[in-house]
Amino acid sequence: VLKKKVSKTREMLGESQAIGKIKETIDRVALTDARVLVTGANGSGKELVARWLHEKSHRSDAALIEVNCAAIPSELIESELFGHEKGSFTSAVKQRIGKFELASSGTLFLDEIGDMSLSAQAKVLRALQENKITRVGGEKEIDVDVRVVAATNKDLLKEIEAGNFRMDLYHRLSVILIHVPPLIERRDDIPLLTKSFLEEICTDYGMPVKKVSEAGMEALKALPWSGNIRELRNMIERLIILSDKIITDADVKAFANPTSPTIATAEVTAHEPDFDNFKSFQEYKDFAEREYIKFKLEKNGWNVSKTADDIDIQRSHLYSKIEKFGLKRGEN
Ligand SMILES: Nc1ncnc2c1ncn2[C@@H]1O[C@H](COP(=O)(O)OP(=O)(O)OP(=O)(O)O)[C@@H](O)[C@H]1O
Ligand SMILES: [Mg+2]
Repeated sequence: VLKKKVSKTREMLGESQAIGKIKETIDRVALTDARVLVTGANGSGKELVARWLHEKSHRSDAALIEVNCAAIPSELIESELFGHEKGSFTSAVKQRIGKFELASSGTLFLDEIGDMSLSAQAKVLRALQENKITRVGGEKEIDVDVRVVAATNKDLLKEIEAGNFRMDLYHRLSVILIHVPPLIERRDDIPLLTKSFLEEICTDYGMPVKKVSEAGMEALKALPWSGNIRELRNMIERLIILSDKIITDADVKAFANPTSPTIATAEVTAHEPDFDNFKSFQEYKDFAEREYIKFKLEKNGWNVSKTADDIDIQRSHLYSKIEKFGLKRGEN
């Protein structure tokens, strides 16, 4: 397995002014019940902000319940958020408690709120105005005590203008606004983040901690980082696997994302991985397969049919590989 899950909230690293300000804001508002809207690009650390807001609040003994609004079909979101009574619709075979209730005395994290349908927005607005919800197919109103933190990578003011997002909901959600700037606006945090990821990942793999040469660090700082901190972490993991003990600028250039303009594909094929890092032939084969499939998916804009065609395997087979390796769009 290439990735492990860490359950504890990781430290928010960074010496940049931006991170300092964000931490200060978290400290100030965590203890209140004020709603917070966290904005920022993919992988910039929005979820981490939400987790710390919960962790530092009086609610930290209760749960942080997360809802990915983009991942739930609009016809199911109401039941997901508010729950339903048995028999309220065809597939409602038993009663279900929704996320608002589950988050009671804790924090409800509405992730990707900018992707929520207008009809769901109307219902969420009502719940926020009244601190009460009604289960789908239910009669009684249920009081809920939740602190809501929402996040989005969209520009909600633009979405409002385009008629995709409700202004009144925006105002309800954005009592406090926290914007997480992209990594390129805080490049000076890259060395610290890199060091921490090196330690964490090497320790996870049970290998001595690798280092990045000075030129290597400069090369890292110069990359475009469109996937922000998540991309940096994935890149470090890749470098650990593919480079020798000292990661050089040549390694960085060779293994930077295929989509980034700074590298030539020839360099990638010219450089061979550090085979000593793989405990078995199988482990290496899995690695190679994963990297190959990831590269091809990216290249084909994550169009699975097209990619399957491109590499000449069955679409269903490709789906099972994506599942097996836990590949996700945007996670390089
Ligand atoms: N300041 C930081 N210090 C250490 N790790 C960080 C920092 N910011 C983010 N990370 C890590 O980077 C990864 C991406 O962060 P996170 O999931 O919070 O981003 P996000 O903005 O929610 O991304 P997305 O828009 O894709 O949902 C996570 O593994 C997170 O722990
Ligand atoms: Mg997120």
